[in-house]
Amino acid sequence: MNAKSVCVAVTRKLPASVEARLTDLFDATLNDRDAPLSPEALLGLAQNVDVLAPTLGDKLDAAFFDAAGERLKLVANFGAGTDHIDVAAANARGITVTNTPSVLAEDAADMAMALILAVPRRLVEGVHALENGAFHGWSPTWMLGRRVRGKKLGIIGLGRVGEAIARRARAFGLSIHYHNRSPINPHIEEELEATYWDSLDQMLARVDIVSINCPHTPATFHLLSRRRLELLQPQAYVVNISRGELVDEETLAGMIEEGRLAGAGLDVYERGTPSEKLLKAPNVVLLPHMASATVESRAEMGERMIINIKMFADGHKPPDRVIPGLDDNLEPKAGN
Ligand code: DGY
Repeated sequence: MNAKSVCVAVTRKLPASVEARLTDLFDATLNDRDAPLSPEALLGLAQNVDVLAPTLGDKLDAAFFDAAGERLKLVANFGAGTDHIDVAAANARGITVTNTPSVLAEDAADMAMALILAVPRRLVEGVHALENGAFHGWSPTWMLGRRVRGKKLGIIGLGRVGEAIARRARAFGLSIHYHNRSPINPHIEEELEATYWDSLDQMLARVDIVSINCPHTPATFHLLSRRRLELLQPQAYVVNISRGELVDEETLAGMIEEGRLAGAGLDVYERGTPSEKLLKAPNVVLLPHMASATVESRAEMGERMIINIKMFADGHKPPDRVIPGLDDNLEPKAGN
């Protein structure tokens, strides 16, 4: 297939360099509007192209693939998470799904580490106090947070991002604890001096900060449920840069409000944006889903996406095919 004859449609505005490369290589339809398409517009687009390049927010479920018609052959997602795509339904109709893993892991880990520091050390509260005129000079008892060094960090789902967080956390003097379905490579475990917990519940009861880093699947919805949040110690913090659906957000907000948890640093929310209750909760740092938002990361995500489309157009298997079940080890062990 001549790549230039491959019809590619992009659903959101992408960095200019990525759009330019797409236009050079393919018959590309871009989108100037930086807002999600309606389901009807998305479907209309998909019905007339060989390749759809969606991103999170575009819901591609089984009904979508039923209606997408015969032409669509590749869904090249701009992003790592594919919980908005029914990959099995796509595959069943002969449609390949790719994503952009790895390239955003380090930037995402920086943001998780920033939250791990910001919440216990009351960083945002301090900035606000100063801006609001509440700072009248140093005081021995004002703005006291909690020390980070020496605390136990519990990572649920130690994969690419989890490992990058663990490396940073080690440098800040935290000890690493983790739960996966099975232990990671022993060399990496040794290097991180990480402790594997076969039981997620037992780990939760013992750590000071929880970072949740597994994919959102039906099995991980509300992984941090009320029952599990209640296992945490009252001085524990929750950090989530993965997907909002992994945490029972209302319960989390309520427990922080009642002083049954120390606080939370969140970049993602169950309904896309934070609930009223969460916005009003004390000791929370809430970010607008920006963990991977660097110029470099977005450019590299675009490059990966283009490599996947080009390989497909040249008749090869794209390198970043999403294989259902491949990340299962990042999900909790059955019976937990
Ligand atoms: C992804 O790629 O899935 C990220 O959530 C974007 O930040």
